[in-house]
Amino acid sequence: MANKIDINLVLKNASKSEEERTLSLFDLSILGIGAIIGTGILVLTGIVASTDAGPAVIFSFLIAALASGLIGLCYSELTTSMPNSGSAYVYAWVSIGQVGAFFAGWTLIGVYITTTATVANGWTGYLNSFLREIGIDMPAKLLASPFAGGIINLPAVIMIVLITFVLTKGTSESKWINNTLVLIKLAIIILFISVAVFNVRTANWHPFMPYGPTGVFTGASTVFFTYLGFDALATSAEDAKNVKKNLPRAIIISLIVSTTLYIMVSLIMTGVVSYKELNVPESMSFVLLAKGHTLAAQFVSAGAVLGIMAVVYAFVYAGSNITMAMGRGGFLPKSWAQKSKKSHSPNTALWLNGLMAAILAGLMDIRNLAIIANVGSLTVFALISLIVIVLRRQQPELNRPFKIPFGYTIPILSVLVCIFLLANIALNAWLIYFGWLVIGFILYGSYSVKHIDALQEN
Ligand code: ALA
Repeated sequence: MANKIDINLVLKNASKSEEERTLSLFDLSILGIGAIIGTGILVLTGIVASTDAGPAVIFSFLIAALASGLIGLCYSELTTSMPNSGSAYVYAWVSIGQVGAFFAGWTLIGVYITTTATVANGWTGYLNSFLREIGIDMPAKLLASPFAGGIINLPAVIMIVLITFVLTKGTSESKWINNTLVLIKLAIIILFISVAVFNVRTANWHPFMPYGPTGVFTGASTVFFTYLGFDALATSAEDAKNVKKNLPRAIIISLIVSTTLYIMVSLIMTGVVSYKELNVPESMSFVLLAKGHTLAAQFVSAGAVLGIMAVVYAFVYAGSNITMAMGRGGFLPKSWAQKSKKSHSPNTALWLNGLMAAILAGLMDIRNLAIIANVGSLTVFALISLIVIVLRRQQPELNRPFKIPFGYTIPILSVLVCIFLLANIALNAWLIYFGWLVIGFILYGSYSVKHIDALQEN
């Protein structure tokens, strides 16, 4: 018991009045869609279709969507019960103790770093495609990591460093900018669908499942990445109006919108060209260019360059928040939690996250980065689903504004789906994740155990 944080301490500052809450169902859905749609659909779809699943990548998307829906419901129950804690790290601290809290928090930091790196890595493809379309050629060796035949993915490194720099100057979260960027992302996807649909040749869908069900399952474990971000919604619980209804609804709405778009895009991509040709970093503009739609390809690339930067911004920010929270609780050095006097941003935490992501984005390839992010997130999501069960038993009286129906069925299914997807992830991603955990637990043993201080949390 001693190494758990008292739930009352977490709940102490947790309740905002209904008037103080600003996010409507629409705002929440836009927030969710904005965090979900990014590099995944623009880059990974083509790669997974060509190497894992073929046109049957749509089934991979459906499996990943189902998993995200189940996990999203589990998140909703926890986050509406403890609205201001916002992260798996606190849920674990309350229910299973400090080792679990460290494990969840440290894994999440790794997830945010690798997600940032994946997204930035994919961004380079569209930047390059945009510049090429306006006549500027960049040296190929500086556009790809050593794993992808280059020296370094330099634009990705520079972009992450610049965005981290901007974040250190202070964040004023603007609903307006976020909504605009989300609309740009949606607009380019709809543009792609409405232009390329006329070039679909059903012959390209044969064979539909060239690599069999195994390919579809491996594909699902990779495209799970495209749904990451739905959990970001969970951290907005304390600002959500009518949270009980709106939060679960917004999670489901954003998942339905993104799944529909993902399936349409993948059907069209694999219908316009053979899935074998899609192993390129800028598959959407590649497909458009293949059919001579130069102007549309330019719009798509330009929109992708802008839209993907917003995803990097969100994930560096999220990573620094969890680093800061863990620093405040004494799990990580307290200096990592300090905020700049001038900008009020956690600069050390930001640079730690930003620089690590920049190094990975420069030196690793997108597919491996994405599956490493998936190992970490699916592990944390399985833990979250288990915590729903543990907490119902430990704290039956806790006020749960949203309680998942059908008893334990959904949390159990959620754990099982996470395990199933985890089982399909390649060994090298697991090894890297274990390496990250080893580093973490060395830090835990040598630092955290002596400094953890529950009273500093919140
Ligand atoms: N789901 C986000 C993306 O695909 C991380 O970019």
